[in-house]
Amino acid sequence: MRKNIVAGNWKMNTTVPEGVALAKEVNEALKGATTKCDVVICVPFTHLVPVADVIDQTVLGLGAENCADHKSGAYTGEVSAPMVASTGAKYVILGHSERRQYYGETAETLREKVALALENGLTPIFCIGEVLEERENGTYNDVVKAQIVDALFNLSAEDFGKLILAYEPVWAIGTGKTATADQAEDMHAHIRAVIAEKYGKEVADNTSILYGGSCKPSNAAEIFSKPDVDGGLIGGAALKCADFMGIVNAF
Ligand code: 13P
Repeated sequence: MRKNIVAGNWKMNTTVPEGVALAKEVNEALKGATTKCDVVICVPFTHLVPVADVIDQTVLGLGAENCADHKSGAYTGEVSAPMVASTGAKYVILGHSERRQYYGETAETLREKVALALENGLTPIFCIGEVLEERENGTYNDVVKAQIVDALFNLSAEDFGKLILAYEPVWAIGTGKTATADQAEDMHAHIRAVIAEKYGKEVADNTSILYGGSCKPSNAAEIFSKPDVDGGLIGGAALKCADFMGIVNAF
């Protein structure tokens, strides 16, 4: 059966010493605690090695926030999936709306990134979600379906089964405006139906679908109580150990 997961996305925040201190604090808080979910932090590339050195990845999983769409070569400034895997990280966020919006990521580049991540043993946390205009004009279900179909439906059922999905309505990211628990549940159920249509009910039932967008200790329990919501992808609130643990403990 699918897992409950709370994953932090630190985005472009913290220096290396600050990030190492935060990772240590979260790792300490989790040690000996009984949690009802897997916990992961996704950190800037520069932080992967020093964070891997100070955490116990049986307690706290580690991931990157992106990887390149090529394996190696003359791509100045890029970081490849094999490089990420060589740090000991096990996860990689792909297709975050900030990457789609500011760095022009398309379904085509994302297909390459997903394939390279999987080839290198990384678990993609693949993000999907509509913008405000699409929420307001009622096309959000079609938009999210197209994001899944275009970037992921080339995968075999076996490979699709290795993914974690994250529904992040763009209008809820960093805005303080959360989707209601019912809006999240409606979309998560829709996503699961889209998966079932292509890969069957078993694959759909086994896929963890996280909610992301202004998730906080005060609203996490209600959102996580919904049957198709399997956890959260947490931005701002992942940068303070107490807030992040408050969300972890919402399960
Ligand atoms: P916030 O939790 O800061 O809204 O960010 C959500 C997000 O984008 C996680 O990937």
